Amino acid sequence: MSKLNILEFPDARLRTVANKVKIFDKQLKKLVDDMAETMYHSNNGIGLAATQVNVHKRLLVMDFSEDHSHLLVYINPEITDQSGEQKREEGCLSVPGVYASVKRAEIITVKAQNVDGKSFEEDLDGLHAVCLQHEMDHLDGKLFVDYLSPLKRNMVRKKLEKQRRNAAQEVVF
Ligand code: NI
Repeated sequence: MSKLNILEFPDARLRTVANKVKIFDKQLKKLVDDMAETMYHSNNGIGLAATQVNVHKRLLVMDFSEDHSHLLVYINPEITDQSGEQKREEGCLSVPGVYASVKRAEIITVKAQNVDGKSFEEDLDGLHAVCLQHEMDHLDGKLFVDYLSPLKRNMVRKKLEKQRRNAAQEVVF
């Protein structure tokens, strides 16, 4: 397994719309393993979409357990039904250090495939539903900061630029 590099806002590659997964082979399993490894070694990440590691395939992983024992894999996910509304504070591994409330559906029905290509359907609510909607946005090139006002989004951009400048300075001797 290897840890992959996570793209950060405002990287244009995060705007790529991912393609459907058609081949369920060893290479796909390796990608899932690498994405899980990357998520587990990240700072509190509970979800990761392939887009974030610059692989433009409709695939995402999530794990809500504290001991990283419940990896959830959704390939070619589609929301077939949704209802209600919830607002939660969201963060994103591609927008480090930034949190904002986003309005999402409360309950969703999702249809997806597992790593072997087998189809399944699930009803999700609460955090699980929010996370899935957030990760599915990534597959369409969308980020949670897109739901903010242009002014706020610009503040986020500046904050990240400053963070990166400071981080760069830390390694210069
Ligand atoms: Ni994200």
